Amino acid sequence: MSNYHIKHLEEYYQVYRKSVNAPEQFWEEIAEEHFLWYKKWDKVLDWDFTTPEVRWFEGAKLNITVNCIDRHLTTNASKTAILFEPNAPDEAAQHITYQQLHDRVCQFANVLKAKGITKGDRVCIYLPMIPELAIATLACARIGAIHSVVFAGFSATALATRINDSDCKMVITSDGSYRGAKTIDLKGIVDDALEECPCVSTVLVAQRIHSNVDMKSGRDEWLQPLLDAAATVCVPEVMDAEDPLFILYTSGSTGMPKGMVHTTAGYMVYAAYTFKNVFQYKQNDVYWCTADIGWITGHSYIVYGPLANGATTLMFEGVPSYPDFGRFWSIVEKHKVNQFYTAPTAIRALAKEGLELVEKYDLSSLKVLGSVGEPINEEAWHWYNDNIGKKQSPIVDTWWQTETGGIMITPIPFATPTKPTYATLPFPGVQPALMDEAGKELKDNQVSGRLCIKFPWPSMARTIWGNHQRYKETYFSAFENTYFTGDGALRDEVGYYRITGRVDDVIIVSGHNLGTAPIEDAINEHPAVAESAIVGFPHDIKGNALYGYVILKDVGESRNHDNLRKEINQIITEHVGPIAKLDKIQFTNGLPKTRSGKIMRRILRKIACNETRNLGDTSTLLNPEVVQSIMDNVL
Ligand code: PRX
Repeated sequence: MSNYHIKHLEEYYQVYRKSVNAPEQFWEEIAEEHFLWYKKWDKVLDWDFTTPEVRWFEGAKLNITVNCIDRHLTTNASKTAILFEPNAPDEAAQHITYQQLHDRVCQFANVLKAKGITKGDRVCIYLPMIPELAIATLACARIGAIHSVVFAGFSATALATRINDSDCKMVITSDGSYRGAKTIDLKGIVDDALEECPCVSTVLVAQRIHSNVDMKSGRDEWLQPLLDAAATVCVPEVMDAEDPLFILYTSGSTGMPKGMVHTTAGYMVYAAYTFKNVFQYKQNDVYWCTADIGWITGHSYIVYGPLANGATTLMFEGVPSYPDFGRFWSIVEKHKVNQFYTAPTAIRALAKEGLELVEKYDLSSLKVLGSVGEPINEEAWHWYNDNIGKKQSPIVDTWWQTETGGIMITPIPFATPTKPTYATLPFPGVQPALMDEAGKELKDNQVSGRLCIKFPWPSMARTIWGNHQRYKETYFSAFENTYFTGDGALRDEVGYYRITGRVDDVIIVSGHNLGTAPIEDAINEHPAVAESAIVGFPHDIKGNALYGYVILKDVGESRNHDNLRKEINQIITEHVGPIAKLDKIQFTNGLPKTRSGKIMRRILRKIACNETRNLGDTSTLLNPEVVQSIMDNVL
């Protein structure tokens, strides 16, 4: 029996049991049979969740791009690796074969080297969803540079914070980007960010929208002429299994975004193995994940996982609403997409538009549908199942995180019977546990608690860049000897998991993780604002939207509240990005605080969600009287 490709439920249980009873042997076999190594490991796993330290395939030598590209050249050189669908439907799609991908990655890698980038250097990539984005990440991996991709919807301030946190030497960007009918001045955003980033000495600029941009001499260079002059061969850097592959920032409940560090071998093995099974990819399939490579979903399931399996992975530059809300389905028809992986927020937005835009297109190529990023509600699940999958394509509701590197709890299509809103069963190698608040493991079925993982899996983040202590405190201190996810979950009578949402102050808006702290910091920058607090409340399409409570400095001053709301959202757009704009802003004279001065968000959340019947214990409040006044003025 091959452990690599699970095809039915009994096989899943067998493989799962093996992965728990003999994890080292289990992962060793997969690593040995399905990847190319310069040197095999001395030890499969070394771990200690107290320090915490985790090492997989210690002593092994490899290069992930050899596994994602070079090894496919013998049999699949002319197969499409990346299928690029541009923003405008009348612009031709591009089929980049594995051979072309090889050549372009090598050229890019040679340009990086010529610009002085060497193993271990950090390179920030701030690009739209164009092929250069995937190629740039792979080029970094080719030479052992650590890529830090920043989603190109983040503002200059957010970009600068991320560049400085990991001391990036170089930024790779484009003149601008297309987003539906709009263009965005990416280079201008980079220029603003770099005012604050002395560590960056080079900016490489891809040309996408052919706009006039300022090129700072000595720092900025057009990418294409450099690529054209570069050789199409680049000897891959020999990487250690535990050498960092990339940093990817994710929001925390407090403070700075966390630069999650993923290392090479374990990440590769896990991303590839999950991709193969969760999407049941077959040799001639066309696979499409609609995420942006700026998020972990794009890293693992647009770039590394699919390419490590020699797949054809579709990259879409545009948005689901352009030129109309049928765009996703038109792309499925045009490219005969077999596996389609998207987020509940997109499903809800498209469901709202009615069925005519779905029925116009032939979706019969679809075999597997995926969902990721937030809990999928029952209504959206059924709409997806009935109208897109025509009840023939299983829905894989995949639960995982930036920190986990790969999918953790998911059905295996055609093996695991699905259940609406349930991510179902742990993937082989994943040992989930539910804990009560006192830290006791709840071992029965039909319980709910805090979702933890008891045993290391190969693609777990190894640290937070520059702050191992924070890594330990955030993930390994809430419960002894176990990784805490920050999510709540319940387990049903057959052991299926349903993720119920964050139990900390991270709010998921349209599938994007937002920490409250950077948004509150931005609001507080407004000269009229004294203090603010953000909570989430349910929203039909976004899943959650943001509700802000704002205390103004001079209560006597009568400023126009609507103008203030606009200004506050403008500041948030500048400091964090448009995804963090508030849907509702309530001006208030006070915020409920504990005696130690901590804002009681639990109460604010209940008020914003209209759940004021049971506000819970307010006796510890310093100022209980503000609660009534906030309730009286709720929006
Ligand atoms: O709360 C969970 C939610 O998204 C969080 C992780 O966000 P991020 O690191 O941005 O990664 C998103 C893509 C992997 C989780 O802690 N989440 C993710 N997938 C699901 C989910 N919640 C419920 N169901 C899911 N399938």
